[in-house]
Amino acid sequence: MLRLAVVNGSTRPRRQSGSVVEWVVGAAGRHPAVKSGEVLVEAVDLADFGLPLLDEAVPPLFGAYEHEHTRRWASVVGSFDGFVFVTPEYNHSVPGALKNAVDFLFAEWHHKVAGFVSYGVHAGTRAVEHLRLALVELRVANVRSQVALSAFTDFEIVDPEDPAAPGLCAPGEHQEPTLHEMLDEMIEWGVALQPLRTAAGTMGGDAAGTTGGDAAVSHASGAAGGAASAAG
Ligand SMILES: Cc1cc2nc3c(=O)[nH]c(=O)nc-3n(C[C@H](O)[C@H](O)[C@H](O)COP(=O)(O)O)c2cc1C
Repeated sequence: MLRLAVVNGSTRPRRQSGSVVEWVVGAAGRHPAVKSGEVLVEAVDLADFGLPLLDEAVPPLFGAYEHEHTRRWASVVGSFDGFVFVTPEYNHSVPGALKNAVDFLFAEWHHKVAGFVSYGVHAGTRAVEHLRLALVELRVANVRSQVALSAFTDFEIVDPEDPAAPGLCAPGEHQEPTLHEMLDEMIEWGVALQPLRTAAGTMGGDAAGTTGGDAAVSHASGAAGGAASAAG
């Protein structure tokens, strides 16, 4: 079984990302490989991990993590074979919290696969370009297809009176087939890279012994014993 995390890349109060993650998890659940149980999709919320700005004295390259928050994040990232990064665009790039979470680790990312669901005024595509570059340094294979959601056409305004009210993700019909195409590419590369993960000891999926129950679509939480949450 291939384990894919849907990473909520915004930690902002009243963020829009919650409804994007919910849409991704729901739409991914309709992909044949997820329906058959061949692929497990789980939401992972950065906000659950409370990561400070990188505070490890030893560079992540050495894997000598001092802090409990780093070890918890490493164990969750290490248990997956791939990542769908859900990211807004902040000043033409990814949110600092997401870049920081990527920077915290090293080997746990290796030989894994990534896909992207972005959103923003220009559909977040510039954020994804930055993230792709960073992930190359971490030996993450990032796939061609990506979902780019427009703030104008793929979200519904919930409260016109409240400028801080998060919009509700309501993507156009073409977006789910694009997401499935992206998942197809992620599954192909995720499977192809399995021998490298095994050799490097960075395998997720069954090999990590962390498969979570029978449900093909579920949620992972960084908080010890905490309630799973995709929204927020
Ligand atoms: C600090 C900041 C910078 C932003 N910069 C951009 C930008 O460069 N391009 C863009 O399309 N939207 C930009 N936006 C708008 C966000 O894409 C939009 O607010 C989105 O809903 C943020 O996602 P979130 O609510 O999940 O955090 C910015 C928002 C913030 C908070």
